[in-house]
Amino acid sequence: MSLRLGDIAPNFQAKTTAGDIDFYEYLGNGWGILFSHPADYTPVCTTELGKTALLQEEFAKRNVKVLAVSVDPLDKHLGWINDINETQNCTVGFPIIADENKNVATLYDMIHPNASETFTVRSLFVIGPDKKVKLMITYPASTGRNFYEVLRVVDSLQLTANYSVATPADWKHGEDVIVVPAVSTEDAIKKFPKGVKVVKPYLRYTPQPNQ
Ligand code: BEZ
Repeated sequence: MSLRLGDIAPNFQAKTTAGDIDFYEYLGNGWGILFSHPADYTPVCTTELGKTALLQEEFAKRNVKVLAVSVDPLDKHLGWINDINETQNCTVGFPIIADENKNVATLYDMIHPNASETFTVRSLFVIGPDKKVKLMITYPASTGRNFYEVLRVVDSLQLTANYSVATPADWKHGEDVIVVPAVSTEDAIKKFPKGVKVVKPYLRYTPQPNQ
């Protein structure tokens, strides 16, 4: 059965470009992103891994460890990393899993047979410190993902894990957030000393509480 939000992300051991890893050990107590791409030496994947490498500091600031996966072998990954570094002006510093036996792809349901029988689609999972799945996105091979959007969601997930707030459409770090419906307006005024703006009884904004 495929994974759903809130499920425990399955642990696994895998061969990667940074040596053998145990997924949970790799994540430690922080956040994680596990993302698949269809194949090495392909153009869209090259730009995706390059962009992830260029944003590595942003992921680190958020205590997020990144781990890529494809079903290609290790020697192919290692050669391809040179091309990614050269063409995308970056240094890939995160491991790429060589999932030749499709162990990880199967555990995380990354092969969608009606798209391709053999290659993983562009799946991405954000995993919290509790090892639960917080976000799942799936893109087709033809469309590269927006890694700024991934960072934006991580910001929202980390904020809403600690405060009784939700983030509105297109929200970005630093903008006003929404008080969750479970909190009464009376309690919200106490909880959020920066102020609560009541637009409707169910639509209440407050400045981002951890800013
Ligand atoms: C790519 O990464 O460019 C790609 C991979 C598989 C199919 C189409 C595009």
